Amino acid sequence: MVRNVLAAALAAAALFGAALGQTCAAGQLCPADAPCCGLYGDCGVGAFCLGGCDIRYSHEIESCVTAPTCKSGTYKLNSLNDVQTIDRYLGDASKINWQSQGKPVVYEDSLLLTMAQGTVGTLLSSTFYVWYGKICAKMTTSQGKGVVTAFIMMSDVQDEIDFEFVGINIAQGQSNYYSQGVTVYTNVENLTVPNGGNTVEKVHEYCIDWQQDDLTWSIDGDDLRTVKRSDTWNATSKRFDYPQTPSRIMLSLWPAGLPSNEKGTVDWAGGEIDWNSKYMQNGYYYAMVKEVTVDCGDIPQGIVKKGNKAYKYTNRAGTNNTVEVTDELVILGSLYADGENPAVGASTAASSLMPTKSVALVPGGNPGGGGGNKVESTAIPAASSGGGGGGGSSQTAGGNPAASQTSSGDNSFSQGGGSTGTGSSVEPSLRKVGGSVFAVVIALLGLLVL
Ligand SMILES: *[C@@H]1O[C@H](CO)[C@@H](O)[C@H](O)[C@H]1NC(C)=O
Ligand SMILES: *[C@@H]1O[C@H](CO)[C@@H](O)[C@H](O)[C@H]1NC(C)=O
Ligand SMILES: *[C@@H]1O[C@H](CO)[C@@H](O)[C@H](O)[C@H]1NC(C)=O
Repeated sequence: MVRNVLAAALAAAALFGAALGQTCAAGQLCPADAPCCGLYGDCGVGAFCLGGCDIRYSHEIESCVTAPTCKSGTYKLNSLNDVQTIDRYLGDASKINWQSQGKPVVYEDSLLLTMAQGTVGTLLSSTFYVWYGKICAKMTTSQGKGVVTAFIMMSDVQDEIDFEFVGINIAQGQSNYYSQGVTVYTNVENLTVPNGGNTVEKVHEYCIDWQQDDLTWSIDGDDLRTVKRSDTWNATSKRFDYPQTPSRIMLSLWPAGLPSNEKGTVDWAGGEIDWNSKYMQNGYYYAMVKEVTVDCGDIPQGIVKKGNKAYKYTNRAGTNNTVEVTDELVILGSLYADGENPAVGASTAASSLMPTKSVALVPGGNPGGGGGNKVESTAIPAASSGGGGGGGSSQTAGGNPAASQTSSGDNSFSQGGGSTGTGSSVEPSLRKVGGSVFAVVIALLGLLVL
């Protein structure tokens, strides 16, 4: 169902008028000047070429940056120190484990994924990839019609393993899986949450145990569903419709119940969202994520292993046997770079290399023709006031730059003036890019909160 996030995001982008609009799909590769096919089926550079870059439809396989390998560990989501907004992350997964879109908010020892009216919610994605292993999340969900909380694994060729929580059912989660983005909704199965249910008020531990031969969903240690690879043979496509490629961990809260979404999606989610709901607080819906643990599986036998830093596709087929492990890790010089030209924008001479036409830098929102200036003029005052204010509340807006740089429409958050500091920090990588580009990047972020 992640596809629908993009429907919402694109709907938001469309409000800015003509989007840059180059789309990618089977038989339609991205062009050389926007070579990377992003998660939502449109083309760009920069963040498009990092997580979610689909080698099947990008200009070249090499347009997409290789995928940082799995890192076992316990990831406490209790601050924004390990979270970078998508416009600042340039590919160095050794420095930062999570990338964000939308507005994560620090709350006690957790992060809230927030969704205020007019936004498409919040998405946290791991910067590293998992290629088989056990992945668990301790979290609560949101509640209410049309509001969907998700904990999923998603590969760049859109293999997907889901836990999704529809806000009208707080006693069950939905398990699902897809292969290469083919939506077979009959794969879905409801899982009843043990220990008295209630996904909203109680923290439960949701686990995805993803191995080469089987896939098990469990909650609080109870195994609730297993899918065997051997049962997923598709005689038409002559392959196993089984998730089999390196995947990022994603935690999100998204508005399935927007009137602009397909009716089927709205109905699935229990109806249109009520933006005056008692389930909102501080002006937003929220889900709480506390901790993610990752136990990386062994590299499958038979895989070509030339190193251990990155997974790399060797063929557009995007199946398990077309991935090898290498030491080729690419860090982009700027958001104007791509896998074929990774150094663009890395030096102070960057401005001479800047494209003269507009190009999308962050999937999920394109600057519309002429729309950029308008956004810029509201974003800049917001940015310069970002970091101000006292912040006495127990909820803080944290250092999320997106939080402090969004348009003034955001002021309804009670913690809006409570940014506790790091909000004004600019990552060195972005600083290199210079002021005018920074404004463009902010303009893109503006779309996310439109
Ligand atoms: C699963 O739960 C949803 C509500 O979240 C409900 O509409 C659906 O009928 C349930 N499916 C089954 C097979 O029980
Ligand atoms: C088999 O694969 C084809 C092509 O990807 C797809 O259209 C079809 O829905 C799949 N069949 C099943 C039963 O999943
Ligand atoms: C890929 O998966 C197939 C089953 O679909 C398996 O037989 C094969 O060993 C796997 N290849 C690699 C290289 O992992």
